Amino acid sequence: MNTTDQYAVFGHPINHSKSPRIHTLFAEQTQQRLNYTAQDVPAESFTSAVADFFKHSGKGLNCTVPLKELAWQRADILSERAKLSKAVNTLVLQKDGSLLGDNTDGIGLVADLTINHKLSLLKKRILILGAGGASRGIIAPLMEQSPTHIVIANRTVEKAVNLRQEFSHLGNIAGCSYQDIRDNEFDLILNATSASLTGELPPLTSTLLAKQGSCYDLAYSNKPTAFVKWGLEHKAVNSLDGLGMLVEQAAEAFFIWRGVRPETKDIIGLLNSERN
Ligand code: ATR
Repeated sequence: MNTTDQYAVFGHPINHSKSPRIHTLFAEQTQQRLNYTAQDVPAESFTSAVADFFKHSGKGLNCTVPLKELAWQRADILSERAKLSKAVNTLVLQKDGSLLGDNTDGIGLVADLTINHKLSLLKKRILILGAGGASRGIIAPLMEQSPTHIVIANRTVEKAVNLRQEFSHLGNIAGCSYQDIRDNEFDLILNATSASLTGELPPLTSTLLAKQGSCYDLAYSNKPTAFVKWGLEHKAVNSLDGLGMLVEQAAEAFFIWRGVRPETKDIIGLLNSERN
């Protein structure tokens, strides 16, 4: 019988996931004995794959595209942030055998922006591009940083308006179309669309980014994404992709599972140096 604690990321596709490497580096750094693997799990196999995993020394799971909503449904208990985001990226086996669902994506993004890149969000005008699951997970943690406002722009405007309604109790949030924001300026523009995955860009006007503004793509890629390039072309002070967020959300998951917080700086540096 395998007695080493097992962890894994489930997703589909999963072959390019950096999570096994990140968690193995965390385990070495903090001297924790564990295994972390990546498993290709299509949505239709999710329930049986989860049951099987926790039957065989599984202690915790990360779930990525397209499984975060299914993981949210599967969890027996939800953290407050998972409740709000309606998505779970971290499942934790509890002592009584139940599964706790959490979402560390938003806190990972905020850690990367505010700690790693020293970007204060206080009184900043923030634009979120996209109104899907990725946007939903970051609104509450961003609002906690007391920006002036958050504007959510989406191709399908109803989705942006619905998100706005759902989160309006947190502060000044607007939901609109790309056309509606043509004449506005933002200090931080976050790309939470899935457009980067296909090399596309949402329809952005060249005046959207304020002087000294920054751009951040929640997606990451070895080569600059179309949105990171857009930021560089529009003189963003920072035009970043989501590699730092990926490592920070992983560090938070590791902390939840093991009670030890890994240092992320050197690991982000290492992964950055391996980009080709
Ligand atoms: P995720 O969970 O990754 O957010 P999703 O829920 O499918 O994925 O949402 C994808 C988001 O990317 C949506 O906001 C989508 O816009 P629509 O709601 O109008 O479909 C947005 N998106 C995808 N491709 C895009 C593109 N080429 N230009 C602009 N927005 C795009």
